[in-house]
Amino acid sequence: MSQTSCITTPIYYVNDRPHIGHAYTSTICDVWARAGRLVGREVFFLTGTDEHGSKVEKSATARGISPQALADENAAEFQRVLATFGLTNDDFIRTTQPRHVGQVQEFLRRLMATGDVYLGTFEGWYDEGQEEYHTENKARELNYQSPISGKALVRATEQNYYFRLSAFADRLAKHFADHPTFVRPTERANEMLGRMRDGLQDVPITRTNFSWGIAMPDAPGHVVYVWIDALLNYITALGLATPHAERTKYWPADYHVVGKEILWFHAVIWPALLMALKLPLPKCIYAHSFWIADGKKMSKSLGNFVDLPTIERYNATYGLDAWRWYMSTQGPLGTTDADFNGKHFHETYTNDLVNTVGNCPSRVGAMIAKYFGGKLPTDAQAGGEWPSRCDAAIAKWEQCMEVFDLSGAARCAMDLLRQVDVMINDTEPFKLAKDPANTPRLSSILNQCAQTVRIAGVMLEPFLPQRMGDLATAFGGMPNKDTNWSARKKYGAISDGHPIEKVALFPRVDATAISQTS
Ligand code: MSP
Repeated sequence: MSQTSCITTPIYYVNDRPHIGHAYTSTICDVWARAGRLVGREVFFLTGTDEHGSKVEKSATARGISPQALADENAAEFQRVLATFGLTNDDFIRTTQPRHVGQVQEFLRRLMATGDVYLGTFEGWYDEGQEEYHTENKARELNYQSPISGKALVRATEQNYYFRLSAFADRLAKHFADHPTFVRPTERANEMLGRMRDGLQDVPITRTNFSWGIAMPDAPGHVVYVWIDALLNYITALGLATPHAERTKYWPADYHVVGKEILWFHAVIWPALLMALKLPLPKCIYAHSFWIADGKKMSKSLGNFVDLPTIERYNATYGLDAWRWYMSTQGPLGTTDADFNGKHFHETYTNDLVNTVGNCPSRVGAMIAKYFGGKLPTDAQAGGEWPSRCDAAIAKWEQCMEVFDLSGAARCAMDLLRQVDVMINDTEPFKLAKDPANTPRLSSILNQCAQTVRIAGVMLEPFLPQRMGDLATAFGGMPNKDTNWSARKKYGAISDGHPIEKVALFPRVDATAISQTS
């Protein structure tokens, strides 16, 4: 396990308002970052805003303000919103910041010097909404229409600087072959390979038809294509083109987490750029699928978009931990889209958080209060099978986190709690308590329950940081930050006689609460 880790979200376009897409990627990255810090790694978690390009210029003009003013306003909004989500990002990069602009220009100078960027003429099919060119084959396949907006692709000619992507075809194919988990899920890697087999064409990386972008060095009138500018954020934030790059240790990133629609840029163009710059490639690009709503693609016109006010209503009703839980255990991490649905959210909250994560510690705490005055009783059986069960669950959790299987990691903890519930149901402590002769057995059972609940709570901390903080205090009082991982994951850390407090973690919520607030 490496000691430093780096995880990134895409940088978000400032001409949009924060919505579930942003909240989702940011939340799952935050869960992973927290898990990494929990196990003692030095994690660098990066997010930020993508502020250049013609779309931002157009939106600003429409509002009668400068593109910079629009970017400032919306970047502040993104920062405010992400903070309300309790995200633990270590930096927030904005592509209009001088630190980014200067390094992008430096990287482009290097690419010109090696000949990987050159001046040429281009003609192609352009998707104006996506600011993306398509090959003839692809354009035909798309019926000459944008797959996103449905608008007609336009034939465009420009004299531009190009990135020599075609020169990297073999090296990219080899990298994919040598690193089967470079792009995940595998199905998405195969899609990329399929597209690569159609042939790689050089990519125009400057524009002359608008000015809101980073000036191409020594090329008046040319601004850097927004995608090249944006991709470089991952290394400008780490200062890789500056002389004193203290953050070099975080590169290469462990995970670039992105949505499936922007995978090509991340899985093909970005690695080729890094190869040209002679920098190591990220370890994994993880492309998630989309949230849809009530079975339909979310769209502003359908009015089913899970926008910020909707998310805020969920948070106010169920709590931030519940939102994080739903995002990370029910989200579209695989290749199928996930349906966001109020009833499903409510059921997930009730089954997982109220009835399991909340109820199990509350039962255990209440019995220890009732039968042992709130002090942890002794376990003469030294845990029985529980230490090995807990160790196995922790080992599995670590593996799941390593491969970004967030719901798998959550399940490790849930399974332990369910086993505790089963033990309580099977051994019936409330019956045992009626006869003092059973006290040693009752002590063992409740000690084992409490020790196991504590371990499950530790595994759930990255998902449910607020309530699991309360649980850690109530069950053993182990401070989160000051204790190292090997101590925290060890079974039996709560000492005999230690106070165990009663906890009420997740209150039951009325099924109609959300509809009443909307
Ligand atoms: N600015 C580019 C990324 C540049 S990264 C070098 C961009 N920004 S975005 O704001 O449009 O998208 C941000 C992320 O939100 C993308 O990963 C996208 O997949 C994600 N989502 C947008 N809608 C979504 C859903 N409905 N569901 C899940 N995520 C989706 O693209």
